[in-house]
Amino acid sequence: MTSEISQMSLEQLVAAIRTCTRCGLHSGRTRAVPGEGPPDATIMFIGEGPGFHEDRQGRPFVGSAGKYLEELLASIGLKREQVYITNVVKCRPPGNRDPLPDELAACKPYLDRQIELIAPKVIVTLGRYSMARYFPGQSISRIHGQARQVGGVIVVAMLHPAAALHQPQWKATIEADFKKLPAIIAQAERLQPTEPPPSPQQLSLF
Ligand code: URA
Repeated sequence: MTSEISQMSLEQLVAAIRTCTRCGLHSGRTRAVPGEGPPDATIMFIGEGPGFHEDRQGRPFVGSAGKYLEELLASIGLKREQVYITNVVKCRPPGNRDPLPDELAACKPYLDRQIELIAPKVIVTLGRYSMARYFPGQSISRIHGQARQVGGVIVVAMLHPAAALHQPQWKATIEADFKKLPAIIAQAERLQPTEPPPSPQQLSLF
């Protein structure tokens, strides 16, 4: 099945996610939430997993965290329709608990294939679980706002908008981190796929 996923088109992927039974989360879901956005989006945002409203509507970031994400996007002149938004797990964990390792592993091939097909130039990880894909062993409170090049993509670690909403001292932090994105996007658009990764010194300029 994993090898089948790696061959799917975006449409096939969405259909497979909507009927997926690869982990126990499928039994509690109303709708799976594959993700949405332009298939050729330059920027991809990866959150954690659907919450109550996302599970009801089958769409990512449509509750209060989504409203705040839209405000953050607007602060840098972007609309949600211009970016691709998805999550590390596509079905709601019961009571919004953290996703379990087997659930993350079951969903990983879907996210791998989404990234491969959309081929964004910038990936913004929202929260700990998507950060762990690219910054293993790091702490979000230490590396938020930092960027690193992974292959031809620049990955930026951000706090989760829901965490910033619930802990107001982090609001200013996520808002300042978002303000760094336009320069990072401009830098990513100049990267040639064959260009060697910039040195750590260059990245620390972000
Ligand atoms: N939080 C997430 O991580 N993802 C969503 O889709 C909604 C809230």
